[in-house]
Amino acid sequence: MTGPYRKIVEVLNGKTVAPPPIWLMRQAGRYLPEYRETRVKAGSFLDLCYTPDLAVEVTLQPIRRYGFDAAILFSDILVIPDALKRNVRFVQGEGPQMDPIDVSGIGNLEGESVLGHLAPVIETVGRLRQELPEETALLGFCGAPWTVATYMIAGHGTPDQAPARLFAYRHPEAFEKLLSFLAEISAEYLIAQIDAGADAVQIFDSWAGVLGEREFENFAVKPVARMIEIVRSRRPQAKIIAFAKGAGLNLLHYRQKTKADAIGLDWSVPLFFAAELQKDGPVQGNLDPMRVVAGGRSLEEGIDAILDKLGNGPLIFNLGHGITPEADPENVTALVRRVREAGV
Ligand code: CP3
Repeated sequence: MTGPYRKIVEVLNGKTVAPPPIWLMRQAGRYLPEYRETRVKAGSFLDLCYTPDLAVEVTLQPIRRYGFDAAILFSDILVIPDALKRNVRFVQGEGPQMDPIDVSGIGNLEGESVLGHLAPVIETVGRLRQELPEETALLGFCGAPWTVATYMIAGHGTPDQAPARLFAYRHPEAFEKLLSFLAEISAEYLIAQIDAGADAVQIFDSWAGVLGEREFENFAVKPVARMIEIVRSRRPQAKIIAFAKGAGLNLLHYRQKTKADAIGLDWSVPLFFAAELQKDGPVQGNLDPMRVVAGGRSLEEGIDAILDKLGNGPLIFNLGHGITPEADPENVTALVRRVREAGV
């Protein structure tokens, strides 16, 4: 059975598409004036995530403006702790906050009502698939267990995730329980997104880079491998991108161990190493988001280097992390144009 032609799906099937398809992490966000306008209307950030009309609208905004090859569901990785009743708040200028979890809190975690709580997000996925152009892929996502756990343990963002690393050494059993709980609940959430119409899903392990060698294996590789195993056992055709930010040389066997179809690369991954990783399958990335802020020659040079080293293999062009609020929307126009004009 062949579905509609969507370039990102082709790449996820191992094909080389030239020029490569493009989308940007955090493509719906504060750098866009139309996002800021809808954001004000929504009241709180979580209200925006849980109101399908508004979430659909902000997901479509960057598609209308730039014609990206994929839309990414507008939500957040922290809707999972919110669904677990951790009292998640997004405080203006302070980032996300929630009640920090302890050993007994982990013992009391209860997953039954999670998918019910996330029903509006799943509804958003279904409505997006109906409203998107036929050729635009729809991506679902969730956070990787390690990254979600770092916020649940600290109760807020931290620069190095010291609280979660310390908790893992002090309470290894409770910590492992938290990771496996999150892996199972997140796999169910991804399956629901796929069933509602997501062409592929991305697992964000934004804090993989603070882990030592053994911890990367136990906290980043194993739970993500388990999630992918659950999803594939139930939806064998599922397409999955795994983004382990800062993982460096640990990426060498990451695809093989997790069975992800594509691996996301942050901007610190050297392009010769990215090209090695691409020999085993599709890669996604890895322009420094600061080049999009700087614009001009630095933007062009960054784009050209990636296309030169990775453009002849299966590549999804993306940033190495989310676009930042300071980025000029005009620079994104220039970025998309340069990628689309490559090799033609
Ligand atoms: O366009 C898209 O990429 C889809 C939407 C999306 C958001 N967050 C919207 C958002 C996605 C995929 C995420 C993922 C996410 N959220 C991650 C993983 C990727 C990454 O960036 O590392 C993480 C770690 C989070 C947690 C999170 N959410 C933080 C730390 C913050 C606060 C920092 C900030 O930029 O304000 C958020 C809030 C958030 N999530 C915003 C958006 C657009 C900004 C909130 C606002 O509009 O007020």
